[in-house]
Amino acid sequence: MTESILVTRRPPGLALELLATAGEIDLWEGDYPIPPDELLARIVPATAVYCMPTDRIDRGVLAAAPMLRVVSNMAVGVDNIDLAACSERGIPVGHTPDVLTETTADLAFALLLAASRRLVEGVDQVRCGNWGPWDPEILLGRDVHSSVLGIVGMGRIGRAVAHRGRAFGMRILYVSAHQKPDEEKLGANRRDLAGLLTESDHVVLTVALSPQTYRLIDARALRLMKPTATLVNVGRGPLVDTDALVAALSSGAIAAAGLDVTDPEPLGAEHPLVALPNCVVTPHIGSASHRTRVAMAELAARNTLAGLAGEPLEACANVAVSS
Ligand code: DGY
Repeated sequence: MTESILVTRRPPGLALELLATAGEIDLWEGDYPIPPDELLARIVPATAVYCMPTDRIDRGVLAAAPMLRVVSNMAVGVDNIDLAACSERGIPVGHTPDVLTETTADLAFALLLAASRRLVEGVDQVRCGNWGPWDPEILLGRDVHSSVLGIVGMGRIGRAVAHRGRAFGMRILYVSAHQKPDEEKLGANRRDLAGLLTESDHVVLTVALSPQTYRLIDARALRLMKPTATLVNVGRGPLVDTDALVAALSSGAIAAAGLDVTDPEPLGAEHPLVALPNCVVTPHIGSASHRTRVAMAELAARNTLAGLAGEPLEACANVAVSS
C-alpha cells in the first residue's frame, strides 16, 4: 500500500529518505512552522504525520485525518499532541527520548554556569568596549561547584544533569513522583517541591509539561527560593509563571535565571525577560547539536515506518497503543 506521509518541516539527516521507502511525502517546505490551517488541510489524506513540537495535534486535527495511523513527533516532549485522543483512535504517538538526553543536559549546565557566573553580562561589557581594569568587585557571581543542585523531574535528562552536578562536587536533591534508588545510592536525596526550593542553591527544571506541572514555579514557589539562587528551565516554558519570574528577578527575590524555554515562545526582543541582566535566554536549543538533531529526525522516521507497518514503535509516548 502506498502511504501518504505529511512532514511538517524538513528534518535533517536521512529522515526523508527513510520515509520515502513507505510512500508519498507531502513536505511543508516553509522555513517556519506549518500554519494551523495548512496543517488542517494537508493532513486530510495522511496515513502518517511526522510533526514538530511547534505543531498542535489536537482533536480537531485528528478528526480531519480519518486515515491517520501514526503520529511521530520529532521531540521527546509530547505536550503539543492530544495523547488521549490519539489513544482513543488507537493511534501510536512516536517521540524521541534518549538520543537528546546528554545534549539537553549540556545546555542545562551551560545555562546554569552562564546565569550564575554572569557570563552574558561579562561578554556584553567586552563587546560594548566597557572592559575596564581588573576590579576586585566586578561581576561577582555565585559558585556552581560545591553547591546544592535541585533537580525537578528526575527522568533521563534530570539524571544526566545530576551526573554533571556530581562532577562539579554538587550535592543533589530531586523532586520526582518516585524515589530513584540508583540516584540515592549516588548520594542524591528526594524532597518535596517546597523542600527542594528552600534548600537548593540552583534549581533545574527538566520535568515534562502536564496539567499537573503547569506553572509549577509560581510566585509562591519563587518566594521559597534563596535570594542567591539560580533557576534554569530546559523543560517547557509554561512550567514557570513568567510574570512571577520577571517580578522575582527584578526585585532580587532570586538571583538569576537561565531559560531555554519560555512562555510565550518565542519571546520578542521587547519582552522584560530579555532586558533583565540577570536572565539568560536561549531560543529552545536544548537538543540543537548536529548529531542529536539527526538522531532525533531519524528516530522519528523509524517510529513513523513502524507505525505504518503496524509494528511497535521504537519510542512510543502512549505505549498501550503501540504494544
Ligand atoms: C523536545 O525534544 O521535547 C525538545 O524540547 C525539542 O528539542
